[in-house]
Amino acid sequence: MTNQAFSDRDLAVLWHPCTQMKDHATFPIIPIKKGQGVWLEDFEGNHYLDAISSWWVNLFGHANPIINSALKDQLDTLEHVIFAGFTHESAVRLAEKLIEITPDGLSRCFYADNGSSAVEVALKMSFHYWRNKGQAKKIKFITLENSYHGETLGALAVGNVPLYKETYAPLLMDVITVPGPDCYYREPGESWADYSIRRFALMEQTLQQHAESVSAVIIEPLVQCAGNMRMYDPVYLKLLRTACNKYNVHLIADEIAVGFGRTGTLFACEQAKIKPDFMCLSKGLTGGYLALSAVLTTNEVYQAFYDNYQKLTAFLHSHSYTGNALACRAGVATIGIFQEQNIIEKNTKLSKVMGKAAARFIDHPHVAEVRQTGMILAIEMVKNKHTREPYPWQERRGLRVYQYALSKGVLLRPLGNVIYFMPPYIVTEDQLLLIAEVAWQGIQQAVKD
Ligand SMILES: Cc1ncc(COP(=O)(O)O)c(C=O)c1O
Repeated sequence: MTNQAFSDRDLAVLWHPCTQMKDHATFPIIPIKKGQGVWLEDFEGNHYLDAISSWWVNLFGHANPIINSALKDQLDTLEHVIFAGFTHESAVRLAEKLIEITPDGLSRCFYADNGSSAVEVALKMSFHYWRNKGQAKKIKFITLENSYHGETLGALAVGNVPLYKETYAPLLMDVITVPGPDCYYREPGESWADYSIRRFALMEQTLQQHAESVSAVIIEPLVQCAGNMRMYDPVYLKLLRTACNKYNVHLIADEIAVGFGRTGTLFACEQAKIKPDFMCLSKGLTGGYLALSAVLTTNEVYQAFYDNYQKLTAFLHSHSYTGNALACRAGVATIGIFQEQNIIEKNTKLSKVMGKAAARFIDHPHVAEVRQTGMILAIEMVKNKHTREPYPWQERRGLRVYQYALSKGVLLRPLGNVIYFMPPYIVTEDQLLLIAEVAWQGIQQAVKD
């Protein structure tokens, strides 16, 4: 079957995520037949290097032999079982491992199905904790400007990217939004740390003013990924942890995108040496294989729900596929790879190569900034380098880079006019050079006229 024939079948029946489907009247959708390592292969044998890890989920390549073999074994043992009143080995093993590798003090694991539902769980648990503790006034959430936490209504409400949020505003709960520490806006010569500290004053003020009615602050540690890969210094997290303690407010760390090594440490919170009250994990949790998420929390939170049934303090949230055995087994195999193969150390080297490969973009006449945190590197394409005036979004310049890159066999789906590299950790040094070269040529095409 040709790409075209398969695409026609798709476009006759499917509705794709985050897509204006009319675009596909002109831009072909790419049917993938097979994945192997960093490569995806279409129906006509063209290959695409998955430089964005299939929406940041894939860590160790497609068809990874270790995860494949674990899943095959799990498939012959148990695919799924109701997770209320029942349990199974992979769910327990994964929870044990998650508690072992996340910051000390996170000692309970609650499973959900995807990133957004983990955020919903953390918000509900935090609110419910205060209620169980007799503090029913603590019902609000504080979030940062430019944050992203998912698409379900609660997660969307605590996010702040207008493109996704604005349309649904009438449906969303009210939240308190604080100007963020996004270091793209620091003064010339100002360090990330200084800017992050300066911006924290706004968070401190907000907490001081609203603490009595606030349940939790939710934050993406170090990188606001969907918000154009904007970055800030760990010191902000450190200050935030101290302030949350001071004002008696929970801290929810949404590590759905940045967890599992993306920022250079296994979890981004480690760089600030902090323990959040809730940590949301998904995406890389299963190595990019299956939809699963987990919310890690403290014994203190857990105990606030633990009582006689008649007290009605239990957390009655559930999803049909909670604790899915296949997904949990993929998670166990994924963490095993981290533990057995020195991945974080190897990534330190890879991230240096990535930084070097992208160094030349700094002087490009249409690049305002090249920023990097660990294995995430972003290139901010602008109309005017000196004033940082962006290209009008309607021109869709980033899309031109995307299309060019695809024609050269690299999958570089941008965020607006931000081109970023977030490859699987099995990427080679040569492949990083290829990604950078294709991005360079793509930007050259995109800034013409
Ligand atoms: C930080 C963050 N939180 C939550 C989500 C939502 O996850 P999901 O798409 O699995 O619902 C995402 C997805 O990109 C994310 O980046």
